[in-house]
Amino acid sequence: MANAAPGRDFWVFGYGSLVWRPAFPHLRQRPGYIEGWARRFWQGSTDHRGVPGRPGRVVTLVPEAGARCWGMAYEVAAERLAAVLEVLDHREKGGYEQLRTSLHFPGRESGDPAPDALVYIATASNPNYLGPADLEAIASQVRGASGPSGPNSEYVLRLASALRTIGARDEHVLALEAILLRASG
Ligand code: SIN
Repeated sequence: MANAAPGRDFWVFGYGSLVWRPAFPHLRQRPGYIEGWARRFWQGSTDHRGVPGRPGRVVTLVPEAGARCWGMAYEVAAERLAAVLEVLDHREKGGYEQLRTSLHFPGRESGDPAPDALVYIATASNPNYLGPADLEAIASQVRGASGPSGPNSEYVLRLASALRTIGARDEHVLALEAILLRASG
């Protein structure tokens, strides 16, 4: 993390699998949101929820004016940050890069400073990027994909459930979940 102030505790913000499975040591966790980004199933996964030649679809963030993306924020101790980021860089190596952005927590008064957080984002320039598609087409791709971390449909359903648990409503995730549940019901 080239530009993070060294020697201080730092927030990592998760909006995909990191919401329900951080799997790294942290001091505390809190639901929060970032502004100007929308969560979309536009990133291909060939190392977690798909395989080369049959990629799954996982979430990334796309810029959208006025959007708010809810997720889970984890505060990492200064002395653990380098090791945690090494683990996360490996876990997110299928096209994600680090981005720093302001993190907001519910109940924050306007004028309160928003801490910086680190978030992993897969931009359109990475080789696994798939981009927009009709939700039915996304669902059919998800249904047919599975990888070392498990079935792609499990990723979608766990994300939807984890967001529900923190009271976050994401229409894109809910609509995909509904199609998958309809198809399996
Ligand atoms: C994240 O969870 O913040 C990154 C995307 C993913 O691993 O699903």
